[in-house]
Amino acid sequence: MATILITGTNKGVGLELTKIYAARGDTVYAACRDPGSAEALAAIAGDVKVLSLIVGDSGSVDEMAVSLKDVVIDVVINNAGMKGPEFDQQNTYAMDFDGWAETFNVNSMGPVRVMQALLPNLKQSTNAKVVTITSQMGALSLDMAAAHAYCASKAAVNKFMRLASIDLKKDGVAVGLIHPGWVQTDMGGPQADLTPQESAEGIVAVVDRLSIASTGGFWKWNGETHDW
Ligand SMILES: NC(=O)c1ccc[n+]([C@@H]2O[C@H](COP(=O)([O-])OP(=O)(O)OC[C@H]3O[C@@H](n4cnc5c(N)ncnc54)[C@H](OP(=O)(O)O)[C@@H]3O)[C@@H](O)[C@H]2O)c1
Repeated sequence: MATILITGTNKGVGLELTKIYAARGDTVYAACRDPGSAEALAAIAGDVKVLSLIVGDSGSVDEMAVSLKDVVIDVVINNAGMKGPEFDQQNTYAMDFDGWAETFNVNSMGPVRVMQALLPNLKQSTNAKVVTITSQMGALSLDMAAAHAYCASKAAVNKFMRLASIDLKKDGVAVGLIHPGWVQTDMGGPQADLTPQESAEGIVAVVDRLSIASTGGFWKWNGETHDW
């Protein structure tokens, strides 16, 4: 059985990931901004420990790491993310720069904060992994001219995690990036291709296959390699 920490678990893909790991008997540290209103999370059976965490706030991330001192963590899944300003305010002609900065803080820096704070925990595992739920929209190979701030934030986290995979190889920590597909969540909308459960089931299978041998990869939820 493994110990998994997941961010953004109160709804969407993060909630489904928590359900799957809990159902297979893993211990899940389920982080979200407001545990008090996370009813669906509280209803999950199994070894689920709900944590308060604001990934955009260094103080909050540090507090979380202190509370987990000496806990061996096998897998960190950076899932929390935001789409950023209204789309007519994040394009070539108009930009809500404060909104872009917030998006960058949450989507690009948040995963790095969480990873750095939990490195001592990960290094105690014999099968340590850090996975970030990114997006195809962060791929330089995809020319979809929409949500420029969101796209740039995901491209940034892709690059950082790719570099981290090189650095952390010697520490035995595998690093991976996963595009979850277009998913029926508050972010993806009801017309999206996949249910959160379908996406999360695929993500779990990709995480299971991630190892030091494959560290630094970018995959789709269905296991296919994603172009950078
Ligand atoms: N849905 C898609 O089609 C799709 C496609 C590609 C990539 N993704 C990525 O998949 C991941 C999960 O998204 P989802 O589809 O499950 O979306 P979702 O249902 O909207 O859930 C997003 C999660 O991120 C948290 N979050 C949002 N803004 C935050 C902030 N400012 N600070 C901290 N946490 C914040 C939310 O918490 P609150 O409820 O507290 O806001 C929630 O737990 C994200 O990284 C997203 O970029 C999704």
